[in-house]
Amino acid sequence: MARSELIHLVCDISLIHTLAKWRYPGSWNGHGMYGDPSLYLDLARLLEHGRFDGAFFADVAGTPMIDGQIDDTVEWGVAWPRHDPLPMAIAMAGVTKHLGFVTTMSMTYHHPFNVARLYSSIDHVTGGRIAYNAVVSGFPQEAQNFGYDTTPDHEWRYRRAEEFQDVVDKLFRSVDPDAMLWDRETGRVADPAKVRRIDHEGEFFKVMGPLPCAPCPQGRPVQIQAGQSPSGMKLAGRWADMQFASSSNLEGMAAHRAQLDAAAIAAGRTPRDVGILWSAPFHVVSGEAEAEADRRKVADSIPPRMAHVFLSQWWGVDGFPMNPRRTVHETVAELKETGAGPNWGYLDLALRMTDSKTTIGDYAMTRMAAPAFFTGTPEQIADRMEEVHYGTGANGGFMVSTKVGVPGGIARFVHEVVPVLQRRGLMRKEYAGPTMRDNLLN
Ligand SMILES: Cc1cc2nc3c(=O)[nH]c(=O)nc-3n(C[C@H](O)[C@H](O)[C@H](O)COP(=O)(O)O)c2cc1C
Repeated sequence: MARSELIHLVCDISLIHTLAKWRYPGSWNGHGMYGDPSLYLDLARLLEHGRFDGAFFADVAGTPMIDGQIDDTVEWGVAWPRHDPLPMAIAMAGVTKHLGFVTTMSMTYHHPFNVARLYSSIDHVTGGRIAYNAVVSGFPQEAQNFGYDTTPDHEWRYRRAEEFQDVVDKLFRSVDPDAMLWDRETGRVADPAKVRRIDHEGEFFKVMGPLPCAPCPQGRPVQIQAGQSPSGMKLAGRWADMQFASSSNLEGMAAHRAQLDAAAIAAGRTPRDVGILWSAPFHVVSGEAEAEADRRKVADSIPPRMAHVFLSQWWGVDGFPMNPRRTVHETVAELKETGAGPNWGYLDLALRMTDSKTTIGDYAMTRMAAPAFFTGTPEQIADRMEEVHYGTGANGGFMVSTKVGVPGGIARFVHEVVPVLQRRGLMRKEYAGPTMRDNLLN
């Protein structure tokens, strides 16, 4: 829920060590490589300085494949390695006071009891600064790490997710906010009238409860969702505080917002109960010459084979032989014939963006080095953000990511764009309160 019309900001720091971002000139300089917290601790301080609501870690616990093998993925670092983000988020909370953290948790492979207990506990440790991005996992290699041969059916995953949400909700309600006594005199710890079993029994889960946690600072962690299909929109309309979404133009964003409004109303909530954080790359420059020079540096830092593996993952065709010298049109036609279950939307996009001669290798590189959605001077970027924000109901904000240097690209956003947004009254200058709920949903 975004109560005010202010722009809220979350920074996507999930892939800053992979997909060649680590290799862009100036990136990661002076820091230990991935696994070492020093860069992340600096980023936490930087984002708090820029009054960001949070830092976001996407997560997929699988290793992408191409043509049925992982060698290229590992060699060129395509979303590999990927550590569990929770410990890093907790370390970052230790050097900040207000910044929140969004980490991703699969409703397809995890158990709601574990998730509720874990996030309640982290909410205590971070002083109320944790949110979770509850995803319905769709990547095949993740399924294979959790006992499945392939990703379970879409609607099965959404049925599980609905019940998952129901169980988490019951668990958080199983301990009243004023249940704890900690009375030294009598020795009473909690009031048993304010703690209940849940005795849930459904298609997927059997949970007695109660949640064995003292009520956490936020009451319950902020909940974010990112599914975009009709079932995903329904789930977000019912349970999410904010949704992550992306679209390539303002019309698409406005249409998406209208669908989410309808989903919220259908679930008995109001559109303002569910904000949207628009996910997009940002590229702050002083002019077009700098933008072009940076884009060349991005292209030069991308090994062609890496782009190739990324395209295969993006299309969802990991077992399919992708020949970089064949054309996009030939490859897509063949994929359509085999019906191998790829992401059809991305294949259609590829057909629209290429001619009959464009090769897979060239297309992969073009996609990786494509200009950022928000490219321009700080004033130009602020203008565009304002247009998107008000064009989509001023109900949420943006998930900011950078293609050009870490932390350099993010530092430019913080030092150059944030002051413009603050001067225009679009963003707060001070945090509203100590918890993520106080800030992101205010
Ligand atoms: C901005 C954004 C971030 C996402 N982050 C993740 C993620 O970290 N892990 C994941 O498994 N899926 C992620 N997803 C995918 C969605 O959670 C969802 O699983 C996917 O869109 C398929 O569901 P759908 O068929 O309802 O769209 C993300 C999607 C978007 C748009």
